[in-house]
Amino acid sequence: MTAPVRFALAGYGAWGRYHAMSIHDNPDAELVAVTAPSEASRAAAAEAHPAARIYADAAEMIAEVDCDVVDIVTPSHTHRSLAEAALAAGRFVLLEKPMATTLEDCRAIAQAAAAVGGRLAIGHELRLSSQWGEIRRIIEQGTIGQPQYVLVELSRKPYRLGADGWRYDQARVGSWVLEEPIHFFDLARWYLRESGDPVELVAYANSRDAARPLLYDNFSAMFRCGNGAYAVVSQTLAAFEHHQTVKVSGTKGALWAGWSGALDRTTEPTAFLKVFDGERLVEEPLPRASGEVFELREEIAACVRCVREGVAPVADARDGLWSAGLCLLAEESIRQGKTLQVADLLDTQARGGER
Ligand SMILES: NC(=O)c1ccc[n+]([C@@H]2O[C@H](COP(=O)([O-])OP(=O)(O)OC[C@H]3O[C@@H](n4cnc5c(N)ncnc54)[C@H](OP(=O)(O)O)[C@@H]3O)[C@@H](O)[C@H]2O)c1
Repeated sequence: MTAPVRFALAGYGAWGRYHAMSIHDNPDAELVAVTAPSEASRAAAAEAHPAARIYADAAEMIAEVDCDVVDIVTPSHTHRSLAEAALAAGRFVLLEKPMATTLEDCRAIAQAAAAVGGRLAIGHELRLSSQWGEIRRIIEQGTIGQPQYVLVELSRKPYRLGADGWRYDQARVGSWVLEEPIHFFDLARWYLRESGDPVELVAYANSRDAARPLLYDNFSAMFRCGNGAYAVVSQTLAAFEHHQTVKVSGTKGALWAGWSGALDRTTEPTAFLKVFDGERLVEEPLPRASGEVFELREEIAACVRCVREGVAPVADARDGLWSAGLCLLAEESIRQGKTLQVADLLDTQARGGER
């Protein structure tokens, strides 16, 4: 029997607990260690996962624990130092999105990963969804022709504060665009892969709270690809429950998918995917339940395959850099009040500068 892939988990907060459960529930994976700085989270981890070694310091865990994967689910400003340490220790790294909060940090992580053969997966788990991932498959089949327009839209209740309030602290979260819209930039760019890289982007945003004007409740961006196809990514946090929509129009047909739940982590959502091939409208049955809790399980299974079989990550360092880069360019577009060329972003990357 093949030995399970050993995971050491940094972060046992709201999302880290779901990572721990997904690892625990996967027969090919084993949770060997967990880090959480607070006593309360350490006690919760020890109770739920008695076989795992519990640490207060992630650097110590990475240095001491014999494992195959370091899974990083900590506040976003800590991603660079932990990812660099884990890659340097020779571990495969599963790094939650955003890859990091600045381009400089993303580039440093990408370089560190390249130096060890790209053993890094970024947590863009929506690609593994039976719904959002299925859309990519339908596009690849040619059912709707060449995609020309993509809309990814979410309306939801406000974000959680995060441990110690990091998610509402501009310095530690970096940007709220890096929180949820980053998934939608990743999906839109993936759906438009055959249209060439994004070349131009404009974004608008506002906040309903004068005390945090840069943490936007409402955010919308458009980017255009080389061949003229374009995407709209839009989100409001000033709403209720969790309702996500994707629409793609192609040269032949179109598709429309919707997901609704009381919360993002609902396990009993309503979800649909309608596909029009230019002649016939079909509602596609979803092969598995859709939702981030299910996609996370798929992400852990994909990570096991990366380690065991050496398969490429579903979203790699380049994808992480692109999605974070588009978010940071959107921030810059809002700040400057104008459309920006993506070449500006690439120049910044090449120069090693930070936005
Ligand atoms: N892919 C997705 O769909 C998705 C969904 C949610 C979140 N995320 C990402 O996942 C990350 C964590 O988000 P979250 O919602 O779980 O945040 P959270 O609830 O605030 O949890 C953060 C955890 O990290 C721990 N921590 C803080 N600093 C640390 C450090 N230096 N070393 C080790 N552990 C540290 C905290 O410890 P204490 O508990 O002891 O305070 C807590 O357990 C963020 O990057 C977020 O953007 C991704």
